[in-house]
Amino acid sequence: MEEIKVLISEEELNKRITEIAKQIEKDYDGKEITLICILKGSVFFTVELAKHINGDARLEFIRVSSYEGENSTGEIKMKLDLKDSIQGKDVIVVEDIIDTGRTLSYLIEYLNMKKPNSVKLCTLLDKPSRRVVDVDVDYVGFQIPDKFVIGYGLDADEKYRNLPYIGVIE
Ligand code: IMP
Ligand code: MG
Repeated sequence: MEEIKVLISEEELNKRITEIAKQIEKDYDGKEITLICILKGSVFFTVELAKHINGDARLEFIRVSSYEGENSTGEIKMKLDLKDSIQGKDVIVVEDIIDTGRTLSYLIEYLNMKKPNSVKLCTLLDKPSRRVVDVDVDYVGFQIPDKFVIGYGLDADEKYRNLPYIGVIE
């Protein structure tokens, strides 16, 4: 098995996620919130975030996939669509990591067609040096360098999602 170096510990993750939850709580001031979890990577983050928002936070799920690699067209595919309407809702899209920004810029455009009252973006990790498409992010957990990270929902070929921390394969 490869050696994994801890980049962000479980304790640091929990502390920061609680801070973001409190910030969201303040910003929404008792309003109903719809958290849209982007499967599969954002599951751990969404759950931890939702647990710390004191108020009416509802959960929706969506799954998209992007084609990566040398022949990348930047095309995004909808794998699992929302099941309930978000019309008139105050939506927060919860993402694991923003890399090129393609996934989120596609999703924002897609979600806006469904006429929510507002859409904000929340990401656990941000790799700003890799951005290709500009996206306005409202809540960021940690900015990280251009390294491939795993754990806390993030995978390498579906492996390592269940690690309780963010790590780098050495
Ligand atoms: P973007 O469309 O390039 O911003 O891609 C974001 C998606 O790429 C994320 O939702 C992840 O699934 C994946 N991704 C980007 N960087 C990493 C990484 O370091 N580890 C694991 N997955 C990553
Ligand atoms: Mg992902």
